[in-house]
Amino acid sequence: MPMSARGVFVSIEGGEGAGKSTVIAALHAVLAEGGREVVATREPGGTPEGEAIRELLLSPGQHLVPEAELLLMFAARAQLVRQVIRPALARGAAVLADRFTDASFAYQGGGRGLDTGHIAELERWAAGLRPDLTFLLDVGVAQGLARARSRGGEPDRIEREREDFFERVRAAYLARAKAEPGRFRVIDASQPADAVREAAVAALRDWLRQHP
Ligand SMILES: Nc1ncnc2c1ncn2[C@@H]1O[C@H](COP(=O)(O)OP(=O)(O)O)[C@@H](O)[C@H]1O
Ligand SMILES: [Mg+2]
Repeated sequence: MPMSARGVFVSIEGGEGAGKSTVIAALHAVLAEGGREVVATREPGGTPEGEAIRELLLSPGQHLVPEAELLLMFAARAQLVRQVIRPALARGAAVLADRFTDASFAYQGGGRGLDTGHIAELERWAAGLRPDLTFLLDVGVAQGLARARSRGGEPDRIEREREDFFERVRAAYLARAKAEPGRFRVIDASQPADAVREAAVAALRDWLRQHP
């Protein structure tokens, strides 16, 4: 898997309510220091076509089989990589992704139980690149779900899953982090938001120092 050409590709992963959106603003500010361009993306979505696919994926009225869910995730990701991420990295920008392929391994692999060999093949073929650095915000399922619900609004199709689904998602994320310790930084996201932010910012600064 080729690493990002010139820029730096950072992704942030974790279950519902782990605090990804909360931490991203702080990471964005660190990456932008020195005047570097930062491109923030979210999944599924991030392009007009991808946002249309997001509707299909997340609206509670849809009855997607797991295989269709996986392929739609990668359809949106293929658009995002080619229209946004690769051009940004080629310009030397930093890309800050709210979820990427690790989420497919966690949700469609761990959660839905799909064969991870197929997901790895899609990663090679449809995504074609992997982040340089990935933050995993790890929090207990009940705590994360309580936070996500406190945000208000109607839960989307995936947020309506049962706790055992999210337990499998969490376990799959942790297994990926364990298998690739060089790329992953696992942050204890059960801490108060300030402490989570500080831990993530310190880990990013540390990584940037080692990869000038
Ligand atoms: N460490 C934390 N402790 C307590 N509440 C938090 C923490 N991080 C985020 N929150 C709150 O929990 C909710 C979900 O956080 P959010 O950043 O949207 O999670 P995610 O993007 O991972 O789903 C928000 O209302 C946010 O303000
Ligand atoms: Mg979020």
